[in-house]
Amino acid sequence: MNPFESLGLKHDGRTLWVLDQALLPDAEVWLDGSDPAAMVALIRRLAVRGAPLIGVAAAASLATFAQRGASAGEYAAACAALRAARPTAVNLMWAMDRMKDASDPMAEAQAIFEEDVRLCEGMAQHGAALIQDGEGLLTHCNTGGLATAGIGTALGVIRRAFEQGKRIHVYADETRPLLQGGRLTAWELRKLGIPATLVTDSMAALLMRDGRVQRVLVGSDRVAANGDFANKVGTYGVAVQAHHHGVPFHPVAPFSTVDLTCPNGAAIPIEERDPAEVRGFGPLRWAPEGMPAWNPSFDVTPVDLVTSLVLDRGVLSRDQLKAGALGPLCRPS
Ligand code: MRU
Repeated sequence: MNPFESLGLKHDGRTLWVLDQALLPDAEVWLDGSDPAAMVALIRRLAVRGAPLIGVAAAASLATFAQRGASAGEYAAACAALRAARPTAVNLMWAMDRMKDASDPMAEAQAIFEEDVRLCEGMAQHGAALIQDGEGLLTHCNTGGLATAGIGTALGVIRRAFEQGKRIHVYADETRPLLQGGRLTAWELRKLGIPATLVTDSMAALLMRDGRVQRVLVGSDRVAANGDFANKVGTYGVAVQAHHHGVPFHPVAPFSTVDLTCPNGAAIPIEERDPAEVRGFGPLRWAPEGMPAWNPSFDVTPVDLVTSLVLDRGVLSRDQLKAGALGPLCRPS
């Protein structure tokens, strides 16, 4: 097969390798993700993460499983198990629906990979046009090359603006509880040489009050038909703060993240994770053992707090979203 390769995933023709994102930035360890059962576990522990990358990785794992001689029954069961591995990210379901009846699974996985690269380019083109020279940009979680097959969603937009020569400064929220901003976005920004400062999530409002942030760009795991969207927990709080301070706020997502069957944000399923992730990190625990903790992995931002949604197919304003413009733009042709 024709191998595919991105920042967090590669295929050598026989084996699918994924970068263990739980170990970054201290160690770059590549794990075998060829077996769908192993891939489900990798997705659950966020070794493979980012809504678009999860869809691509699950498709590549399923295709490798087929290449190794899985029966039709085994293939269907693996497809169903992968589809359920992350309930909020609709890209995963979109990719598994494509793989379910694929006559050539490896060709279909490759097409999903290549399409994701193109979608990132589309978002980068439309989103970078919004960014003005000299802006401070706040972003939450990780939405770059690690989270997609291409250059990313929100971080891809930021990267493209930087490549266009715009003098920007990025503020990366560390993103509690699993620190995707502090570990992964910081790692990507350093690799790309983009001027950036890491902040804790609780510093975002202060940055806005002090006029250091002119725009917020975030990713999304699922956009509902009315423009409400789910993203990494903490996004809603950033949106409220941006609204209060009059700072433009943009989710950035490919059409494969739009779920027209979800009428609004209340219909988006929100994954809850182990409360232990709130009590500590890795081997470190700071809360009393057994302290009750709540750990929703995502939150929903209402469309009223969105300035505009950046898609691979263009930019939709809040008013356009509220008038139902997502349907005609994202309905399968
Ligand atoms: O739990 P994670 O780290 O996978 O969360 C990632 C996000 O919330 C991203 O914003 C989202 O998946 C879109 S990324 C391109």
